[in-house]
Amino acid sequence: MLIVSACSDAKELGGAAAVVDAVCGGLVSAVVKEEGFKAGLGQTLTVRTGGVLPAKRVIVVGLGVKRDIQEETVRVAAAAGFQAAKAIGAKSIVSVLHGAGGGGLAPKLCGKAVVEGVRLAAYGFGRYKKEEGKMPKSLTFVVRDGTVARSALAGMAMGELGARGTMLARDLVSTPASHMRPIDLVEAAQAIAKATPGVRVKVYDRDRLAKMGAGGLLGIAQGSEHPPYLVHLTYTPRKKTRKSLALVGKAITFDSGGLSLKPANSMATMKCDMAGAAAVLGVFSVIGEAAPGAVVHGIFGACENMPSGTAVRPGDVLTIMNGKTVEILNTDAEGRVTLADTLTYATKQKPEVIIDLATLTGACVVALGEEYNGLMSNDRALAERVLAASKAAGENTWELPLAKEYKELIKSDVADLKNDAPRWGGALTAGLFLEEFVSGVPWVHLDIAGPAFAEHTVNAYTPKGGTGAGVRLLLEYLRNV
Ligand code: BES
Ligand code: MN
Ligand code: ZN
Repeated sequence: MLIVSACSDAKELGGAAAVVDAVCGGLVSAVVKEEGFKAGLGQTLTVRTGGVLPAKRVIVVGLGVKRDIQEETVRVAAAAGFQAAKAIGAKSIVSVLHGAGGGGLAPKLCGKAVVEGVRLAAYGFGRYKKEEGKMPKSLTFVVRDGTVARSALAGMAMGELGARGTMLARDLVSTPASHMRPIDLVEAAQAIAKATPGVRVKVYDRDRLAKMGAGGLLGIAQGSEHPPYLVHLTYTPRKKTRKSLALVGKAITFDSGGLSLKPANSMATMKCDMAGAAAVLGVFSVIGEAAPGAVVHGIFGACENMPSGTAVRPGDVLTIMNGKTVEILNTDAEGRVTLADTLTYATKQKPEVIIDLATLTGACVVALGEEYNGLMSNDRALAERVLAASKAAGENTWELPLAKEYKELIKSDVADLKNDAPRWGGALTAGLFLEEFVSGVPWVHLDIAGPAFAEHTVNAYTPKGGTGAGVRLLLEYLRNV
């Protein structure tokens, strides 16, 4: 199987596609015409060579408009080409490095993007069901010369890390809550620490949390049969550095809503409510190889939000680790309460920067849809850096205001704060609530409620289920610390 590419605004085939076409005596361009193939991004056309070439088939992958080619184009094209080849049952594939020829992108970026596209396209959540169809055995990329090859290979190594971290996060998110309890997240963290030089892990159980005064985490967990844990991973680079940051993830292994029970259709996908922690674990699973030049803390408070005779009630008041009190009015606004303790714990590590990732609000999904993360921050420069990392990673993030006008809305009659707020601006009041617990440390909050879990296929490399949202964004951020 040969894979070449074409642009939608080109009059005729160019580059490797033109060469292959010429060798086949114009067969490829003839089929392109016959089928009215437009070469839109991710479209594919399969041409049977009928013995003119050693390859049985040639697949032409559309790159869309030439001047719009970016890293994300390459990711999608590589994924689409791979999907088409796999669907036909190709055993061995030889492909051009999309974007590196006429696309004019740096070979390193192309190498990174093709590996991410192909690996993530080949991914399936296989814990309970066998993958359908045969996987191709080999995939070879052909480039112009050794210099291009060396740059591409360096990019490919980066792509492997992004893909591996993302796939781990996908597996964790897609695993049902019965098999992904707080203790299972603890074990995932311990396995990563054990396998990674430079990474250690501390785990705080219920007794320790009680001594630390983590009333938020304990309160939300108290309706569940499964005890909560606070997990603290630390990566220390080989070269001594004073730089440090904390990555904090929401880790509700199942969000039933608690006594403020969710309706059945909203509850169906709530195994995804630990996707923030999954992203942190995805990053830590490759952090030894990514080798960022800063101390990185990975922190999450794992618990399950369940209704029961022991569950936290609307009207109850919980005391967070930093002494602030929270009136629980809606037990389904549990994420901010657990994050209050986790963020407080994070500030105690004295990081220069805190980034939290949380499937925090349905309101954020209403505002931005399923494919955009919401970002809120108390620090302009940091916000810009995270937005840039998101863009470079091919993840969509849009900034929302940390609107101080709405601080009134989370004040409680009986406690410092309440965990409920009016429906309107629900993503913003949730972000404002979190800000109360970062002690002024430069901080970015990413509400990943939309992108973390795909209810439909998103694109050629993002199938239904856990998506691993945030992993590649964070790795991109860490690359520049
Ligand atoms: N985990 C949910 C948010 C969510 C919704 C994540 C959809 C992924 C997809 C969160 O705990 C929640 O229930 N939030 C409430 C807050 C409300 C009660 C103030 C919401 O968004 O409705
Ligand atoms: Mn909830
Ligand atoms: Zn939740």
